[in-house]
Amino acid sequence: MSEVQNFDVVVIGAGPAGYHAAIRAAQLGLKTACIDAGLGKDGKPALGGTCLRVGCVPSKALLDSSRQFWNMGHIFDQHGISFSKPAIDVKTMVARKDGIVKQFTGGVAMLFKANKIATFYGYGQLQPGNIVKVKQHDGSEVELHGTNVIIAAGSDSIELPFAKFGEHIIDNVGALDLEAIPKRLGVIGAGVIGLELGSVWKRLGSDVTILEGMPDFLAAADKEVAKVAAREFKKQGLDIKLGCKVSNTEVKKDGVHVFYTDEKGAEQELVVDKLLVSVGRRAATKGLLADGTGVKLNERGQVEVDEHCHTGVDGVWAVGDCVRGPMLAHKGFEEGIAVAELIAGLPGHVNLDTVPWVIYTEPEIAWVGKTEEQLKAEGIAYKSGSFPFAAVARAVAMAEPIGFVKVLADAETDRILGMHLVGPNVSELVHEGVLAMEFSGSADDLARICHAHPSLSEAVHDAAMAVGKRSIHKAN
Ligand code: FAD
Ligand code: NAI
Repeated sequence: MSEVQNFDVVVIGAGPAGYHAAIRAAQLGLKTACIDAGLGKDGKPALGGTCLRVGCVPSKALLDSSRQFWNMGHIFDQHGISFSKPAIDVKTMVARKDGIVKQFTGGVAMLFKANKIATFYGYGQLQPGNIVKVKQHDGSEVELHGTNVIIAAGSDSIELPFAKFGEHIIDNVGALDLEAIPKRLGVIGAGVIGLELGSVWKRLGSDVTILEGMPDFLAAADKEVAKVAAREFKKQGLDIKLGCKVSNTEVKKDGVHVFYTDEKGAEQELVVDKLLVSVGRRAATKGLLADGTGVKLNERGQVEVDEHCHTGVDGVWAVGDCVRGPMLAHKGFEEGIAVAELIAGLPGHVNLDTVPWVIYTEPEIAWVGKTEEQLKAEGIAYKSGSFPFAAVARAVAMAEPIGFVKVLADAETDRILGMHLVGPNVSELVHEGVLAMEFSGSADDLARICHAHPSLSEAVHDAAMAVGKRSIHKAN
């Protein structure tokens, strides 16, 4: 093995959290290295982590392709557009997705080069004394010493013991790469991946059945939002069965047999061509730490950190999916930047209370801050104002008059405590709530800000006005 190479910062993992940390550290003049084990579909190293390779970006590419296809059959007629039967070529759709992935993973490599980040392709293991031993893809080993080491190892899909991944039982990786539309798609878990990827294949023509273990649909979302979403998904033909306990699966000649008890306790069997298992993800920390590093993992395998993402071991930090908090790319972005800034002596900070959530289904679902259910449970007195997209001219003009915006504000101070949205383009609109909350804004502040007409953002404006019972476009 060659001599130990020294850096100010060594980052393990080049996903959203790691590549943000590495680039920001390099911008701040720190000598930086980043190690990543990820491979692209072509078997070559591909930076960008789960998000760029098999997560956020490819899933949104397929959601957009499938949405265009669905709209042809379901929305275009309202605009007076007609054509012969729409058709989709799955191979072209997947190739387009692969092209987008390549563009963005290549983009991270270019940014690393431009920022003079030493990049190592292989698996890194933290040793005592801030040494990272890297087993490179070509079989060689190198050792890197970082005055600071940032662990950004990300997460992997959870596999169920009775549903091992293979050709027919798949996780997100498989579901993003199907070569043909499965006639019957089963999904275990009606969470974010189940709903997004279930929607993709439903829109293209699969019969999709989703088996969810919990009795409530989308328990983390606002109850009214979840209700509208459930109603719309049902209309689209997504068959979501709640309160199901899956006990076994068997791959047979005629498909995957899924055995479960339904919410009434009756034994059921579902037969599908492909089964997507999307029951959550776990921190990818297996084998990451050699003995004696002092870095602790909790019972969920996450690296233990304080509010500044510090592990308690001198110079060792951890960010992104492998630590507590929501498993979202943008949460990792912020943590990566904050840690690089803290290392450089700047005041880095992440506010986990204002991390937005977006589910890119149709309608889209988004929220920031607390739900009504959480406020009630915490005994916080609040006011609520909501406004439906059915009364927003732009939404009606777009033929998408579904859903609403709800603003929750403190009963006494009027400070915004949460914003919950379901409807068209709410993935963008939610940021009005994020911005307002970051500036400790009130519902009245938002109500007094001029919003363009006609735009979807008018729903946010009227919802904020409705908090003070002065919405113009509905009875208060
Ligand atoms: P990762 O992206 O998992 O990156 C970790 C990287 O580190 C990987 O490249 C891995 O190979 C590498 N690595 C791990 N261990 C080592 C090691 N020991 N040595 C070297 N390299 C190592 N989030 C959103 O915000 N919006 C979305 O729309 C969204 N969509 C998603 C869709 C799907 C299908 C999935 C699965 C996830 C989605 N997510 C989304 C979640 C998002 O992808 C993750 O939150 C995000 O990628 C986490 O970033 P990270 O940097 O912490 O980890
Ligand atoms: P998830 O946590 O969102 O949903 C998992 C679902 O599976 C839950 O509803 C849970 O109750 C259910 N479940 C768990 N075990 C089960 C079992 N044995 N039988 C039946 N149901 C069971 O996890 P998911 O969908 O795998 O996604 C992982 C994470 O990836 C998300 O939590 C999110 O952080 C991230 N992600 C984010 C996206 C976005 O921001 N738009 C898109 C996709 C993923």
